[in-house]
Amino acid sequence: MLLRLSKNAFVRQYGDFTYVLERVRCYDQMFMDAEVFMRWITRVPMEKSEVLKNICSVYVGADENEIVRDFDEFIAPLIDEKVILAGETVEEIESQEISFSYEIESPKTMDTHYIHPEKRVDGPIPQAVLDSYFAEHPTIFELQMDITQACTERCVHCYIPEYKPVFLPFAQIKKVIDEFRAQGGIGVTLSGGECMMHPDFDSIVRYARSKDLIVGILSNLTLCTDDKIKVLVETEATVQVSLYSMNSETHDAITKRPGSFVTTKTAIEKLRKAQIPCRISCPTMKTNYKDYLDVLAYARSLKMDAQTDFIIMGKMDCDTSNLKCRLDLTETRHILEDIIFKSVPINSEYFAPAKKDDIRSDEEWGNAKVCGACVSCVCLDATGYYYPCPAFAGVNLGSCYEHDLRWIWNESPETKRIRAVCGKDFPKCLHCPDRNYCSVCMCRNFNETGNMFEPAEHFCKVARLNHEIVDEKQRRMLEAAKAGKR
Ligand SMILES: C[S@@+](CC[C@H](N)C(=O)[O-])C[C@H]1O[C@@H](n2cnc3c(N)ncnc32)[C@H](O)[C@@H]1O
Ligand code: SF4
Ligand code: SF4
Repeated sequence: MLLRLSKNAFVRQYGDFTYVLERVRCYDQMFMDAEVFMRWITRVPMEKSEVLKNICSVYVGADENEIVRDFDEFIAPLIDEKVILAGETVEEIESQEISFSYEIESPKTMDTHYIHPEKRVDGPIPQAVLDSYFAEHPTIFELQMDITQACTERCVHCYIPEYKPVFLPFAQIKKVIDEFRAQGGIGVTLSGGECMMHPDFDSIVRYARSKDLIVGILSNLTLCTDDKIKVLVETEATVQVSLYSMNSETHDAITKRPGSFVTTKTAIEKLRKAQIPCRISCPTMKTNYKDYLDVLAYARSLKMDAQTDFIIMGKMDCDTSNLKCRLDLTETRHILEDIIFKSVPINSEYFAPAKKDDIRSDEEWGNAKVCGACVSCVCLDATGYYYPCPAFAGVNLGSCYEHDLRWIWNESPETKRIRAVCGKDFPKCLHCPDRNYCSVCMCRNFNETGNMFEPAEHFCKVARLNHEIVDEKQRRMLEAAKAGKR
C-alpha cells in the first residue's frame, strides 16, 4: 500500500509536538512524539512497508510488531480525515485528493489558515495546546507581509498614513519566506496597501506556495484580473476582501474610488466561480452603519463567511483624523445588540457572551500575555521593517535588510520587550471591571493615545457597553430558563 500526504495537509514539528492540519476539512490536531511516524509521509507516495522499515531503523531493538500496530493505530484517523492518502496505486491516491468547493452544504471559508473555532467539542482544542506551547516557546506561526504601501483606494477609515509607491523587492521577499519556513512558519498573508499592485505579485504567491506555506491574500480585489485568479487557483490561496455595503454609492464613498463597488463585487463572484475560498470583511462605520446586515446576507447567498467589525483604529503614525468615521456609542450599542442578541458574526471573539464564564483573577490576568504579538506572529512592512502585528507600526523590531528572521525573533531587544508584555503592564486595566469584555490591545492604544499601555477612552466605553449587554443577555437567559421550568 502507498501512503502520501494530501496537498491540503501541513505538518510542523514544535518541540515534542507534531502539528497536523488539513485545511479543506478544517481538521487539525497536535500529537506528542509523532515526529518519526510522520517523517517519511511526504507529498511523494511511499510504500507503507518502506515507511515502516525506516521507522524501525530509528527504534533499533524495539518490537517490530508493536511498531506496526502503533503506526496503524496512529495513521487510521489521519487517513479518515484525508490528511494521509492511502491506496494501491498513484492513481487511486490522486482520486482521493479533495479541493475546496462552494458546492458542498457548508464550505469552510471562515478561517483561511487553520482552525475552525466551533468545530471541536471533545478533547483538548489544538488551538489551546498550541497557544500554551507558544506562550512558553514563542514560535513564528504566521507572518503578514505588507508588500507595498501603494493602494488603488483611499478608504476613509484606513490606518495607513501614506500610500507611497514603495514595493518590497522580490529578492528580499524570497529571503524572508525562506527564513520563515526554516523557523516552522505555516501561513503567510500578503497585504498592503493593495498587494496586487506589486509587480511581482504572481511570483511571490507562487514562491510562498512552493515552500509549502498556506498563502492568504488581503485585498480590495480592484486589480483581480482573470490572470490573477489563475494564480490564486494554482496556488490554492485564500482571500479576505472588504466590502462595505451593497449600495454602490455607500461603498464608493468609503473607498473614495467611484466604480470600486462594481469592480470588487464582480471579482468576489469570479473568485467564487473559480472555487477560491474567500471571506468578506465589512468594517462598519457611520457611512455604512446598518449596511453590514445586507453584506452578511449577500455573503451567505454565496456561501461565503463574512464578519463585521466596528473597531476602527487610529492611523499607524498616531494621526487620529480617520476616527471621525467611527461609530458613536449609541450606534455601537445597536451593533453590539445585533452581535450579542442576534449572533451576528464579528471579527473579534472577545464579544462572545461565553466570556462571562471565563473570568480570571487579577493575578492570573496580570501575569498572562494579552495577545499573540511576538509570540506566534509577526509582520513585515514594505520598507523592510518588522513590526509586531497588523497596524502596530509604533514598534520597530529590526530590518530584514540587516537581520535574518531568526535574529528578529530570538535576539531583537524590541521583540523581547513586546513578548514580555503582560496584563500588569496596563495599570488601568488590571483591576478594571470591564476587562473581560474588552480586547486590551497595544496597537489600538498606541495608534490613538501614543502610549501602548494607555487605553483610548472610546474602547473603555465600548467595553462597558459590551459588559452591560452581555449581563442583560445572561439575565434574559436565566429568566427564560426559569419560565421554562415553571
Ligand atoms: C489595511 S487593509 C489592506 C488590505 C486591502 N487593501 C483591503 O482593504 O482589504 C486590511 C484590512 O484592514 C481594514 N482597516 C483599514 N483601516 C482600518 C482601521 N483604521 N481600523 C480597523 N480596520 C481597518 C480594512 O478595511 C481591511 O479589511
Ligand atoms: S483599507 Fe485597504 S483598500 Fe482601503 S485604503 Fe487602506 S489599504 Fe487601501
Ligand atoms: S475597559 Fe479600558 S481600562 Fe478596562 S480593560 Fe479595557 S482598556 Fe483596560
